[in-house]
Amino acid sequence: MLIGRIVDEIAALGPMRFDRFMEIALYDPEGGFFGSGRLRSHRTGDFLTSPEVSPLFGETLARFVVAERDRIGHLDAVVDCGAGSGSMLAALLPGLDGTAGVAVEKSPAARESLRERLPGIGVLDSLDELPGDRHGVIVANELVDNLPAAVAVRVDGAWVEEAVTFEGGQLVATQIAARPGVAAWAERHAPGLPEGSRVEVQLAAAAWLRSALASLRMGSVVVIDYGDTSDGLSGRRASGTVRTYRAHHLGPDPLLEPGSTDITMDVDFSALAAVVEECGATVEYSSQADFLTRWGLRDRLTDLRHRELEAARGSDTMERLMLRSRVTEAETLLHPRGLGDFRVLVARKSLPAARFPLPA
Ligand SMILES: C[S@@+](CC[C@H](N)C(=O)[O-])C[C@H]1O[C@@H](n2cnc3c(N)ncnc32)[C@H](O)[C@@H]1O
Repeated sequence: MLIGRIVDEIAALGPMRFDRFMEIALYDPEGGFFGSGRLRSHRTGDFLTSPEVSPLFGETLARFVVAERDRIGHLDAVVDCGAGSGSMLAALLPGLDGTAGVAVEKSPAARESLRERLPGIGVLDSLDELPGDRHGVIVANELVDNLPAAVAVRVDGAWVEEAVTFEGGQLVATQIAARPGVAAWAERHAPGLPEGSRVEVQLAAAAWLRSALASLRMGSVVVIDYGDTSDGLSGRRASGTVRTYRAHHLGPDPLLEPGSTDITMDVDFSALAAVVEECGATVEYSSQADFLTRWGLRDRLTDLRHRELEAARGSDTMERLMLRSRVTEAETLLHPRGLGDFRVLVARKSLPAARFPLPA
């Protein structure tokens, strides 16, 4: 059992830092939530992402990718990193007239689904396998919130790190000295917080973004996820934003049933933007609702509503029901208190500067 291996590692090495715990709980090949077992990001799974809500998400994104391709000149590939079931690529690729699609997936169950559903695309285990020095657009929808993060806690005006230990027959949280890189990240991106504040230190997200940008000679990396700027997140730092999901509902404390729940957190987009700038790329930042509106989803919604009204006057019930569900899906993707409030960061390498910067 996964918990047995966590306990063994704690017995051998001492308290386990939260990012190591998250790595095992999510990605262990024998019991990790994504690393083993069934496909998770699906209607029948544990959470519903934008591409699973509607093909309109991928269709809209295709218009953005075409515009990027026009700016870049030509595109070697569009890459979906953390591609899940393949719903985004399935909706996106038909709008790209022949541009190659590549899926990068750590989960074996998701890779199997991708190979079955999209036999024409490349399926890779890791971004490191991507041929370098190319013109590309790399998209990551709800990937970064799942990358292992350390948790820094403010104690006596300094930072300590949350870790997991085994006591009284169960996993319990404890605190240990913070690694210098963890304390430095927390101090840089969450300064001046009160005692007891908890900050998810997203170093793996930063490393992922750095390698995504490094893999491109020219192009863009698009990160879509829940989260906010560092300032926007400060009000949520009192107890931190780590949470679990299972079967479409908030799940238990992450320490209770490792391997059986998703573990996630809000993404700090200011920290990601800092990485982009350090890499010499430019940043564009907006809400998902604004991004999808810019690339035509609201126009599509208006058109769908007109067609639905017309269908209501006729006798084609199936057509009317299909249009009704498309309208509902588009509204869900744009909802200001739901998916529409997700954030979209576009990092552009070797391309003209962004028009929508992060708030200062
Ligand atoms: C929340 S799911 C999102 C799936 C899909 N993008 C969607 O929107 O439906 C996150 C996915 O990222 C994958 N993943 C996590 N870390 C990864 C990594 N370093 N490289 C590639 N895939 C990764 C997980 O296996 C999981 O399938």
